[in-house]
Amino acid sequence: MTEPLRLGVVGLGRAFMLMLPTLAHHPLAQLVAAADPRAEARRQFESDFSRPDAPARSYDSVEALCADEAVEALYIASPHQFHVAHVRLAAAHGKHVLVEKPMALTIADCQAMIEAAGAGGVHLLVGHSHSFDAPYLRAAELIRSGRFGRARMITAANYTDFLYRPRRPEELDTAQGGGVVFSQGAHQVDIVRLLGGGLVSAVRATTGRFDPARPTEGAYQAFLSFADGASATLTYSGYGRYDSDEQLGWIGEMGQPRDPESYGAARRGLAQVSTPEEEAALKNTRTYGVAKSAVAAPPAAAGHNHFGPITICCEQADLRPLTNGVMIYADERRWLEPLQAPTVPRAEVVDEFHAAVRAGIAPLHSGAWGMATLEVCLAILESARTGREVALRHQVAAG
Ligand SMILES: NC(=O)c1ccc[n+]([C@@H]2O[C@H](COP(=O)([O-])OP(=O)(O)OC[C@H]3O[C@@H](n4cnc5c(N)ncnc54)[C@H](O)[C@@H]3O)[C@@H](O)[C@H]2O)c1
Repeated sequence: MTEPLRLGVVGLGRAFMLMLPTLAHHPLAQLVAAADPRAEARRQFESDFSRPDAPARSYDSVEALCADEAVEALYIASPHQFHVAHVRLAAAHGKHVLVEKPMALTIADCQAMIEAAGAGGVHLLVGHSHSFDAPYLRAAELIRSGRFGRARMITAANYTDFLYRPRRPEELDTAQGGGVVFSQGAHQVDIVRLLGGGLVSAVRATTGRFDPARPTEGAYQAFLSFADGASATLTYSGYGRYDSDEQLGWIGEMGQPRDPESYGAARRGLAQVSTPEEEAALKNTRTYGVAKSAVAAPPAAAGHNHFGPITICCEQADLRPLTNGVMIYADERRWLEPLQAPTVPRAEVVDEFHAAVRAGIAPLHSGAWGMATLEVCLAILESARTGREVALRHQVAAG
């Protein structure tokens, strides 16, 4: 039961850099192989993860990685548009899968992935999403316990510089999965569904495209109705002005300390480039095999990962997940339900994947769960386009 998952990685880019402290330091994960078209990333992987008795292997194709018998499960962190093909390949070779969010760009592709996993007899999980973060899981547990009555109103608001971080061209094209609804909605919707019980019945939304030089959604606001009468408002802006980490004691999304004096840094960084090619090259300077490798030790954490301030009004108390626990505001008093500081960041992702593969424990973040979150994201885009409320059909309960 404590035997680590022997993992292969598909796509050694930014997402892998962010999961690296987890995958390199969690005792239930062992990185044995990877696939990426970039030779410098493959070289770095072999050098970082080879052990005297077991060299790490790297491949320039996902097919070759899937043929590696030492690999039992894949972390798929290739760009969105490849997720469906890569999951199909993995499932056909009997490899369990953790695929990055968003799961895919259409419901039909999600269904194909779920069917492929079923046919291959493998587990399919979708993540990392910030709904794996311990404070949200703990808040959901507290709600489920019934101690504070039912969750009735959820308010989530996150203000970041997402749109001004360097991007590949398709990340600025909604038709190819670009913009904040696919990339950031996948986190925020996932958290709100977890806290609200999972079953969203309808969505009304607007989206913002405020900068013609970044021609995709940089912001959205959505109203979600749940099947049990609860509701949620979601606000996201990636326009790089107000930064809601200010409300969380300047602890960043990865649980890292932030410097409030770095105001405007993303816009200033982007001002160095003038073409899409230069921008993609700038993104590459932060990627695996080019940027400094983060294998040696997990970065010092100031708290748990988070995705902006969230408040849940329950019938008998208000709850606020924070980076060190969950604040509870009851009638007569308020208190913090503390969480232990993380030793391995995002450890919950490997915990859930390992429990599914080794102990057959049904994961919360299953393919059906990931598809339900994508359905809400697609409904946000549709409602913004049509001005109408969108009814949903593929929702699943939160366990
Ligand atoms: N959960 C998170 O916090 C998080 C953060 C960033 C990105 N992501 C997700 O991860 C995915 C990748 O995004 P990114 O920002 O890392 O992109 P990226 O461009 O930084 O990295 C993509 C990597 O995949 C490689 N690649 C491209 N085509 C490939 C193929 N056919 N086979 C194997 N590898 C291939 C590229 O060479 C690159 O190394 C996206 O779905 C994104 O939404 C998640």
